[in-house]
Amino acid sequence: MTAAMDISVTKTGRSRLPELDMNNLPFGKNFTDHMLVADYENGEWKNAAIVPYQPLQLSPSLAALHYGQAIFEGIKAYKDREGHPFIFRPYDNFKRFNISAERMQMPAVPEEIFMDGMRQLIALDQAWIPMKEDYSLYIRPFMFSTDELIGVRPSDTYKFMIILSPCGPYYAEPMRIFVEEHYVRAVPGGVGYAKAAGNYGAAMLATAEAKKKGYDQVLWMDAIEHRYVQECGTMNVFFIIGNTAITPGLEQGTILEGVTRMSVISMLKEMGVKVEERDLSIDEIVAAYNAGEHMEVFGTGTAATISPIKELGYKDLSMKFDLSKWKIAPAVKKTITDIREGRIPDTHGWMYAV
Ligand code: COI
Repeated sequence: MTAAMDISVTKTGRSRLPELDMNNLPFGKNFTDHMLVADYENGEWKNAAIVPYQPLQLSPSLAALHYGQAIFEGIKAYKDREGHPFIFRPYDNFKRFNISAERMQMPAVPEEIFMDGMRQLIALDQAWIPMKEDYSLYIRPFMFSTDELIGVRPSDTYKFMIILSPCGPYYAEPMRIFVEEHYVRAVPGGVGYAKAAGNYGAAMLATAEAKKKGYDQVLWMDAIEHRYVQECGTMNVFFIIGNTAITPGLEQGTILEGVTRMSVISMLKEMGVKVEERDLSIDEIVAAYNAGEHMEVFGTGTAATISPIKELGYKDLSMKFDLSKWKIAPAVKKTITDIREGRIPDTHGWMYAV
């Protein structure tokens, strides 16, 4: 435990909550009444404050806008059956945030701002946490450089913020995924493991082209041989072939170390499923498909939770999976949802009480 930092609180005079339809929440479009802001200046964090959600006033020369020193996280809060608020594994996101900060030459955000600020903000806006199945309060911590300078160097000043968005599912339907062989997401030695804003902007052209072909997202291949599976759109990816779950390993630093990914690995092992974190080539996937092996394919992520993939398009081949035969992915999805929504005990200590 770290010493508490004084976080000032200014409450809104009028809540917008009564205007919200809590049964119909598209992902990422609605924001709660308050947000957290803190500034980094002269080598220290200061001005930590919870204030009404409002626009920022920024200089056109703001460093983040020009060179992309910007990182973020995605976390979710839920309520248990009695209506008590909980956050899913926030310390893991906190750790990853500061790993991203280091990669982007940004200052670490201290626990007393990231964690205590998040807890206080959610406590204040807890009425915004939906209780409908598959709904949650999406938490978006982020940091960006704020020097007013168009020279290329790490900024001396930064802003850290947390905003909250009550939301329904990110991908509501099973997905059709295009195996991307031309564009790449990350290279060894690059920033693939960091949750850097630019990673997402850089993915948009490939995603747009896949969408034009009728797919929802891309499955990225490695940048060297364009053969080994990396991750999928905004999610890590798992392939169940027979009774073995395979997901790409983290050694190359090209994929994001997903918190949902690590939770799913633990749950699969507890279910008696063998888990392999290793290179998986598209040829191995095609061979298993053509051999008629039992296959379940799904993405994992904070926003995506567990998203089934019903089709993989690779060159001229369309690999279609019969979701009605799946046992493992639905069981994992049910278990993680039940833990998050408080229907079964949290034996892992994943739920952090607000
Ligand atoms: C998340 O899963 O939290 C993400 O950050 C993915 C996306 C919404 C950018």
